[in-house]
Amino acid sequence: MIDNFKKDIDSGLSSSPKSLPSKYFYDEIGDDLFVKIMHSEEYYLTRAELDIFTNQTQQIIDHLQLKKDTYFELIELGAGDGLKTKKLLKSLSDQNYKFDYLPVDISQNALKNLEKSINKELPKVSIKSKQGDYFEVLESLKETKVPKIVLFLGSNIGNMEDEIASQFIYKLGSNLNKNDKLFLGVDLIKSADIVKPAYNDSEGFTREFNLNLLTRINKELGGDFDREQFEHQPEYEESDGIAKSYIVSESNQKVFIEKLDKTFEFEKGEKIFTEISRKYNDQIIQNLISDTSFSVSSKLSDSKDYFSTYILNRS
Ligand code: AVI
Repeated sequence: MIDNFKKDIDSGLSSSPKSLPSKYFYDEIGDDLFVKIMHSEEYYLTRAELDIFTNQTQQIIDHLQLKKDTYFELIELGAGDGLKTKKLLKSLSDQNYKFDYLPVDISQNALKNLEKSINKELPKVSIKSKQGDYFEVLESLKETKVPKIVLFLGSNIGNMEDEIASQFIYKLGSNLNKNDKLFLGVDLIKSADIVKPAYNDSEGFTREFNLNLLTRINKELGGDFDREQFEHQPEYEESDGIAKSYIVSESNQKVFIEKLDKTFEFEKGEKIFTEISRKYNDQIIQNLISDTSFSVSSKLSDSKDYFSTYILNRS
């Protein structure tokens, strides 16, 4: 892990323009900050998706075309705290559907907490968690031929560039069987006055989340980033529906990273690209899946039309 981190930080800061991968946001501090972001007033995404899971639970079950007498696996990629999924699990369990819930997460700690809370709140649900990278876990899906529903929620797919997202969906399809489903939760394109504050909340959690990357490099790689000399900068282009986060250098400066034995130079105003948070519409979803084995079978949206969950059928 540390070797990959070293390699990725070195190549990101050596390239032009500079970049840092958003997957490194999520250390212990980053996990806590992300929870705070999700509860912040401006970050509408979590509430909008929860609205769908709370108010349209039966529609979800109907659209997934689940049968009460056929066992299936409900796999969730990047399960986190499972808040939304629990609404669906409860309804499935109350109606005596036969299934196992298989949450997948990179964080063993998140999985342990999820298992504990499901065992307590929904004792009838059988949970078998899998720790690992999504891409690694996809391979293991092939091992069984039972019907599968894959949940990929929270607009997590939006943190991938379109080409990578397409490859990911393609790969997922090649590990599933005919009529398996992908349940994809995505944030929709909307005006900048709603999207931009979601990535620049007034309490400063998102700023801290972004700049924590520098703290992490200082701590784990012996960097000497002066956090006061860098600022969080969110951008959003409504015409293409893409939000991006940057860290901007506030002065001409040099940063030494001990474990890389290397000095990096930053010019005043130079931007380090840290995250893409893509927003979607039907056309973009179509483009994303056009070379994959999936087609859209239905879609549900929240009451404000901020967020959609697409049900994709594997042909
Ligand atoms: C996890 N992911 C979908 C979040 C997003 O909205 O792109 C991560 C995030 N970045 C800044 N705020 C939240």
